[in-house]
Amino acid sequence: MSEATRTDWLPFARALPRASVDLCYVDPPFNTGVKRTATRPIRGTRASHPASYQDNWPTIDAYLAWLRERLAATIPAIKPSGNLLVHVDWRTSHRVRVLLDELLGADRFVNHLIWSYGLGGSSPRMFARKHDDILFYCVDPARHYFDPPRIPATSRRMRGQTKKATDVLDIPAINNMAAERTGYPTQKPLALLELLVAACSPAKGTVLDPCCGSGTTLVAAKKLGRTPIGCDLSPAAVRLTRTRLSEIP
Ligand SMILES: C[S@@+](CC[C@H](N)C(=O)[O-])C[C@H]1O[C@@H](n2cnc3c(N)ncnc32)[C@H](O)[C@@H]1O
Repeated sequence: MSEATRTDWLPFARALPRASVDLCYVDPPFNTGVKRTATRPIRGTRASHPASYQDNWPTIDAYLAWLRERLAATIPAIKPSGNLLVHVDWRTSHRVRVLLDELLGADRFVNHLIWSYGLGGSSPRMFARKHDDILFYCVDPARHYFDPPRIPATSRRMRGQTKKATDVLDIPAINNMAAERTGYPTQKPLALLELLVAACSPAKGTVLDPCCGSGTTLVAAKKLGRTPIGCDLSPAAVRLTRTRLSEIP
């Protein structure tokens, strides 16, 4: 199987062998109601056709039905020791958590991770929304893999040492000048995916991302010695993912 395939998540998931994946991380469209378009031409695309994907469903129920069908098809592919991370935001996290409780069982819930990213504007009418939600579920609570990540300690007493990460991950979003920026809309930072992949999948394990976008998860997996597999509907996403993977020695 190729590392990144251009196809819909649903047939891709249905074709996966049972119990073959150690970690499935999925960062689906968030149902923002708009078409997400690249901020600049990405590698392999023409300026007149910037990479984009549709991110609007007629209702939240239609969105959840789309997601339910695909998650239900994916779960059998995850090993009993495996994990599932679903990356969403304030628009749907409350409903997606209920959906995952239904599909896997509420006792398979592990963490509600907060990715606190900092960048962006503010509003005079509310607290600024500065985080995404990553819902962490396992298949078997007694067997699931977890290697607690360590991050630099910030207190004066522990200066120069590390501490265990909490469920709030303070990792800046990719800024406009960052070398890793590809221009693909909603690209996630490699630092976030490296932390998640290292914590939630074993060395040499298989990491699946069925909405791989610019390929960040698969790049993190390959760099960390895991086997990356993924797909995306967008030809530009798959081209970019393959290019990024080919650049890793
Ligand atoms: C939020 S983006 C993923 C961004 C990615 N995590 C990254 O770091 O670049 C969501 C992706 O889902 C893809 N997508 C939307 N519907 C899909 C489907 N039915 N099957 C596979 N991919 C799909 C979009 O093309 C888009 O690339």
